[in-house]
Amino acid sequence: MCGIVGYIGNAQCFPILIKGLHRLEYRGYDSAGVAILNDNNQLNIYKSRGKVEDLEHFCESKDVEGTIGIAHTRWATHGEPNDVNAHPHCSSHGDLALVHNGTIENYNVLKKALIEHGCEFKSETDTEVLVQLIEYIKENNKCTLIEAVTEALEQVVGAYAIAVIDRNTPDTIIAARKSSPLVIGIGDDATYLASDATPIIDYTDKVVYLNDDEIAIIKKGEPLQVINADKEPSNIDIKTLKLSVSQLEKGGYPHFMLKEIYEQVMTLEDCIRGRVYNNSIVLSGVNENSEAFKSAHRIIIVACGTSWHAGLIGKRLIQDIARVPVEVEYASEFRYSNPVITPNDIVIAISQSGETADTLAAISLAKEKGAFVYGVCNVVGSSIARATDSGTYIHVGPEIGVASTKAFTGQVTVLAMLALAIGQLRGTVSTDTLVRTTSAIEMLPALIKETLKLDKDIEKLSRTYTYVHNFLYLGRGYNFPSALEGALKLKEISYIHAEGYPAAEMKHGPIALIDHELPTVVIAPMDDLHDKIISNIRQVKARGGSVIAIVNKGDKTIKSIADFTLEIPAVPECLSPIIASIPLQLLAYHIAVKKGCNVDMPRNLAKSVTVE
Ligand code: M6R
Repeated sequence: MCGIVGYIGNAQCFPILIKGLHRLEYRGYDSAGVAILNDNNQLNIYKSRGKVEDLEHFCESKDVEGTIGIAHTRWATHGEPNDVNAHPHCSSHGDLALVHNGTIENYNVLKKALIEHGCEFKSETDTEVLVQLIEYIKENNKCTLIEAVTEALEQVVGAYAIAVIDRNTPDTIIAARKSSPLVIGIGDDATYLASDATPIIDYTDKVVYLNDDEIAIIKKGEPLQVINADKEPSNIDIKTLKLSVSQLEKGGYPHFMLKEIYEQVMTLEDCIRGRVYNNSIVLSGVNENSEAFKSAHRIIIVACGTSWHAGLIGKRLIQDIARVPVEVEYASEFRYSNPVITPNDIVIAISQSGETADTLAAISLAKEKGAFVYGVCNVVGSSIARATDSGTYIHVGPEIGVASTKAFTGQVTVLAMLALAIGQLRGTVSTDTLVRTTSAIEMLPALIKETLKLDKDIEKLSRTYTYVHNFLYLGRGYNFPSALEGALKLKEISYIHAEGYPAAEMKHGPIALIDHELPTVVIAPMDDLHDKIISNIRQVKARGGSVIAIVNKGDKTIKSIADFTLEIPAVPECLSPIIASIPLQLLAYHIAVKKGCNVDMPRNLAKSVTVE
């Protein structure tokens, strides 16, 4: 969470910083701020509670001149979201400004010691401790900024991506990272830095991803220098970005979320491209590690949120198709559960952003215990993509809406291909299953296009449910995770309480909730458990509940019992969550829009959860 941006060059930095903050706003939008060094060596810091546009209004009459600056958009961890706690934070003597993404765990101990040495604190944040510490070390040891930053970071426990500027060295930005991402953009006569590449892409496609424990010394007009934990120069590996500006814009849609829902026709094509070939699956990550996949005794999937839901579907897919036992763990629980992991295990980490702190920690634990770790990520070059031994990108392009949509369908599609690829290697998948499933995978983009035609009906339907307080989502087998995902989509963007449940478990408790005020969404494609789910629908109806059923085309039985049916095309059962997710996403979207909620930036949330 939190996004940081920096610029050093010959242009006015304010517009560049603000534009960058807008791109990073998905990471947090509790407050925003900038610190700019002008030609008179004045350090101007402006911050404001709320979104980046509030900061822009606040700065309208301010002096924002200057060609060196750092900026921040905040997702609050330490201290409430207000102007004082907003970043950048300034040192006591007013020379240094610092922005930070992460958490300093030992900030209390450090703060106490600094107060004893006479430092005065203005905010409740952990970040202010860091800037005060750097100033204290710099003055006390009479050392340079880079020496002070290096020493301060040695004293810090926690996660950080930081950028610091100093009035005394107005041609320099120092940046560093540990467990929070930081990308440096190399332009012709300017250098950029940001939490991800999106603020950089307008100016250059040449980037350097900072590694953990590295510190970058960015000097105006000089080549980038990076040092590692041993204070030795690091090798600077310049990568070329494959990202276009149009991917970061709404393209005529009112919200990124709606754009991303519609994009799924194209993103699944990109996800599948080159991977389904002559009714077989070609995944380079699997082929290059065939021995690990052949000999694995067990697969453990670790993920959070929507990615965890995709993991639950992945478990069914891999067990059904590749016949390997699979466990699915919340990364946040797994990392503290003292898990039994052996070198015969494969750990699959699923993450859209590739930056989720808990998933990263689960990966390090798995690696420590000798497991082979495979990543299923979206963001190319992200921390998880780099921390894993190998992996498969989902290639769905930047997902900006906080609610995950196209990443979910990309993750499930990759997991289906992964299950088939492992099944091919282990000889567990029949030709018939391969032909049927690969053909259906190739059909997915067209079937999603057809399913999106439900949009208008769902928009109408949403009017009935705008003021409902609770929702129940039910599904069975492959679609129990769809129920969880549908409920998560609704609650995160509309603030309506929603629970996902395995349909048959309803009678063990949740059935008590059912009355005419509680609508139930049932995901009920024609699968092996179709008759059973019809009984579950009857049980809801018998108690006065209303039912919205997601069914396959031509399902007359459910049509005659449910209040509303949304018809989706039939696919093999194992791929049905991909198609079923489309009406679930649209239903959540339209209800949230009708309620007047900010669907792209729901309250209290951030797209990328880089703190515990
Ligand atoms: O980037 P990741 O996939 O690791 O993120 C995991 C969750 O934070 C994410 O899926 C979250 O639950 C979304 N807001 C769901 O829409």
